[in-house]
Amino acid sequence: MEMWNDIRSILFHETTILSRLDEMAREITTEYRGKPVTFVALLNGSFVFLADLLRRIPLPVHVDCIQVSSYAGTRSSGKLDFRSAVFPNFSGRHVLLMDDILDSGLTLGTVRGKIASQPGVRSVKTCVLLNKQVPRKTELEPDFSGFTIGNEFVVGYGLDYNEHYRNLPFIGVLSEEAIQKPASETK
Ligand code: XMP
Repeated sequence: MEMWNDIRSILFHETTILSRLDEMAREITTEYRGKPVTFVALLNGSFVFLADLLRRIPLPVHVDCIQVSSYAGTRSSGKLDFRSAVFPNFSGRHVLLMDDILDSGLTLGTVRGKIASQPGVRSVKTCVLLNKQVPRKTELEPDFSGFTIGNEFVVGYGLDYNEHYRNLPFIGVLSEEAIQKPASETK
């Protein structure tokens, strides 16, 4: 249970997250019933969110993933690194773009723009589990959002700090000591 000692406080327990996902799934099902929709998850952070949300949606959806990264430690590098070899084509589809957390808006804003510029894409909406209340680089409010949080660095339920803590079942705030720990101690 060593990882748990690095958590200063728990913001959302697993049961709280899952009951919010029940509500989000109902809204999303209503929005996309009868429409050809592709869920596009941004990896790595949103894999747990994607898996739990998808299994609550009874529609015949397509699923795709794009691997992208902007964070190093607890800070955004300010530039996006696309790690997927090929950017998929969504012509003819409605797209629901999913991410674990909306922070400065760089990630979702950039990927949304790339998808929206593809010919034949019917619509692009955004869905995040966490909406951080910070000034955004771009005007971006998610179409579907789980919880609003303050300007704190959070981990768990897919979210990482230098690739650690993704497997915590809850979302919590990392302690200052854990952030300061040398990388050699967290390997
Ligand atoms: P932007 O600034 O592009 O950030 O909206 C979105 C991406 O940055 C990562 N991120 C976080 N990761 N705890 C994390 O573990 C956080 O508090 C946090 N804030 C941003 C995340 O990868 C997200 O996709």
